Amino acid sequence: MAKILENIKVSDKIYKLVIEGKFHGEMGQFFMIRGWDDYPLLSRPLSIHDKNNESITFLYRVEGFGTNKLTQLRKGDNIKLEGPYGNGYPTVKGRIAIVGGGIGIAPLLYTAKNLKNTVKELDIYLGFTEKEYLTDEFGKYGNNLYVSVGDFITGKLEVDKYDYVFTCGPEIMMRKIVEMAKGKNVKTYVSIEKHMACGVGACLVCSCKTKNGMSRVCKDGPVYLGEDVFY
Ligand code: FES
Repeated sequence: MAKILENIKVSDKIYKLVIEGKFHGEMGQFFMIRGWDDYPLLSRPLSIHDKNNESITFLYRVEGFGTNKLTQLRKGDNIKLEGPYGNGYPTVKGRIAIVGGGIGIAPLLYTAKNLKNTVKELDIYLGFTEKEYLTDEFGKYGNNLYVSVGDFITGKLEVDKYDYVFTCGPEIMMRKIVEMAKGKNVKTYVSIEKHMACGVGACLVCSCKTKNGMSRVCKDGPVYLGEDVFY
């Protein structure tokens, strides 16, 4: 059990949840979050948006009963979180682009913060459907920040400028990036979103087809080499 420090709306249907405490976790990993007792039955998987020695932050979009229930929690309320789970983004060196679309920007802030001091160049690309949000936060970490609203962010991306592209967002966007990188000297890593139940590899609810066979996103992912998922 941990205490909520803040649960605020940052844009339409998008909320930021800050929880007190020092938590482990690497860029791209997630926690199973539960702010209720019995119903809904399942916890919600939320990736680490940010963290420091005093708190951990998650970003979520209201999509159904569970996430709607999350929005009702207030400062001082208790919340249960289990994790960190899954395999996140690798630690790399070189020139890197981070590309997020919509709520897919969630795991990328902590990723940018971590990479900022180790990579040679870090450019950040963020795409939104209607309105941008949290772009200032990302601006602190990138050498360059590119933002698109209502248009495909991939139109601004020149993959050959980078050694790696880390992405999270709509499947169509990630697939496009993997295609753009094909045959070029750039490695892509994608973070896959699936419904989850157990979060630890036991129920197979989160199964996803990869080049190497079926895979459990919660345990084997959520981050995969792009070419293994979009092949
Ligand atoms: Fe149960 Fe992934 S959520 S195996």
